[in-house]
Amino acid sequence: MSRRNKITIVGAGNVGATAAHWAVQKHLGDVVLVDIKEGMPQGKALDLAEASPVMGFDCTLTGSNSYDATAGSDVVVITAGVPRRKDPKTGKFTSRDELVEINRKIVGSVTREVVKRSPDAVLICVANPLDAMCHVMYHESGFPKERVIGMAGVLDTARYKFFISEALGVSVDDIHGMVLGGHGDTMVPLPHHTSIGGIPLPELLPKEKIDAIIERTRKGGGEIVGLLGYSGYYAPAASVIAMVESIVRDRKRVLPAACMLQGEYGYKDLFIGVPAVLGKGGVEKIIEMKLGDAEKAMLEVSAEAVRSVVELLPYDKSSN
Ligand code: APR
Repeated sequence: MSRRNKITIVGAGNVGATAAHWAVQKHLGDVVLVDIKEGMPQGKALDLAEASPVMGFDCTLTGSNSYDATAGSDVVVITAGVPRRKDPKTGKFTSRDELVEINRKIVGSVTREVVKRSPDAVLICVANPLDAMCHVMYHESGFPKERVIGMAGVLDTARYKFFISEALGVSVDDIHGMVLGGHGDTMVPLPHHTSIGGIPLPELLPKEKIDAIIERTRKGGGEIVGLLGYSGYYAPAASVIAMVESIVRDRKRVLPAACMLQGEYGYKDLFIGVPAVLGKGGVEKIIEMKLGDAEKAMLEVSAEAVRSVVELLPYDKSSN
């Protein structure tokens, strides 16, 4: 009898639970939800499992406060961490960079627990600051770089495509494009590599409109925090599940993902968002696209922003 895929999601909060929901709805595999809050991952797993007769999925759902149930996972998604919030007193938002100190400890300990039990898994990081937390996962796991990936580019690209579809009044299905770079205000949307039904974006929208969409994409996370008072989770969860699906089904989709670069795009020992082929082995290939001078300069600004956070981490730069 063939074995079903096993997907562990650590952090059963907004993103984690929503990702579990989509994973089982897409029949991607059995899901284990882990969280430190007692009863919470068990309750969410049971609630979702009770939806299975209605929604018609056969995947099992397990909730746990320990890692033993995660043993032998094919993919582990780490959402555990503290998200950005609006301080009710000052009205100021936690910046991604302020999260580094808290989340590096959480992501580090979660990674150590997970890899003991799933030494062959592909790890996907969702915790912020994303690119820096990928470094934490990479160093703490000791895994090869192909099996440590960060989710940011799919989300940033989804927002970018959605804003374009709204502006043009066309289906999101026909918009192709990518957002590269670090996850943050310095991300690099590529309008000259964006097309609508094969037609280049700059032929369909004036520069001011494209610039406004790029700006809104860069601030997309903050826009949701401003409305809700906490981070978004439907689009982040959908984005990580697109990556999980490509991996467990070995679809080899080309998705923008935070990958450890070793010379690609001229960077070394740095996680940053680039187009990657995702399959059973994790990052099966990093695609090096030709960038114009302005795009290269934007990527450099983004890389520098990532580096400045990574430098706060207590790791040397060497590879696993
Ligand atoms: N081990 C397991 N779970 C943990 C740990 C830990 N050490 N620390 C925190 N958690 C859990 C929390 O109990 C919470 O349920 O992680 C969950 C995070 O969920 P939310 O607070 O709802 O955050 P969410 O919106 O899902 O964001 C997830 O995405 O934007 C990033 O940095 C953000 O790390 C955050 C992640």
